[in-house]
Amino acid sequence: MKLVFLGPPGAGKGTIASEAADIFNIPHISTGQLFRNAIQNMTELGKKVKPILDSGDLVPDELTIELLKERISQNDAQNGFILDGFPRTINQEEDLAKVQPEIQVVNFEVPDEVIIKRLSGRRVCSKCGETYHVDYMPPKTPGVCDKCGGQLITRDDDKEESIRNRLEVYKEKTFPLIDYYKKQGGLLSIDANKKPEEVVKELQKALSAS
Ligand code: AP5
Repeated sequence: MKLVFLGPPGAGKGTIASEAADIFNIPHISTGQLFRNAIQNMTELGKKVKPILDSGDLVPDELTIELLKERISQNDAQNGFILDGFPRTINQEEDLAKVQPEIQVVNFEVPDEVIIKRLSGRRVCSKCGETYHVDYMPPKTPGVCDKCGGQLITRDDDKEESIRNRLEVYKEKTFPLIDYYKKQGGLLSIDANKKPEEVVKELQKALSAS
């Protein structure tokens, strides 16, 4: 199964992808997380992309496409994967379609006011990257990751100014992909303004009916 998860920042793509990856036994590939790993490991790529991620702009297509192609060429991705946050531009989609023509695209829909609440309350583990929300998905002990005991922090791009920019960038560069995929047929849309377990159920239902 090869899936693309599309949707605005904070729609819950990463949260649902992590659950769905366990259910379908395929890797969850987040280009955002690949960039954050590179930043944490202070690689050349990480140094280059840090200011871009902090501001909420998109990393140039050539860097992102190369990183994604390298990741999906690895062994664990040969029987399928979930792409979370890729493609984000028509150019990225055209490149992906050349190497992976058979992909099911799922669009996660949430109203703008929900996005702001989700992003401003998000906390992530500084060690393993697990995602929480202070109100909707709190850890058992405040500030501490349930999985690895790491410290929970606010992502640098979850500051107010970056959130505003990410939403604008999404509307300008990524939103047009929805129409693009609709015209090609087969785009699945999911109401993601529900509890995560309900969103996962709706996703499974939509995929088995498609
Ligand atoms: P990326 O990491 O992809 O960020 P994003 O698309 O902005 O998505 P988010 O991670 O913010 O949101 P999400 O939809 O995964 O929501 P989540 O599950 O965390 O990209 C970061 C940056 O990397 C980009 O800005 C760009 O610079 C660069 N980049 C990445 N890919 C790129 C590409 N292809 N091209 C160029 N540049 C690229 O959930 C959000 C919160 O809500 C969490 O707190 C969660 O606990 C909570 N929550 C989730 N679901 C629910 C629910 N159902 N109910 C209640 N709370 C929920």
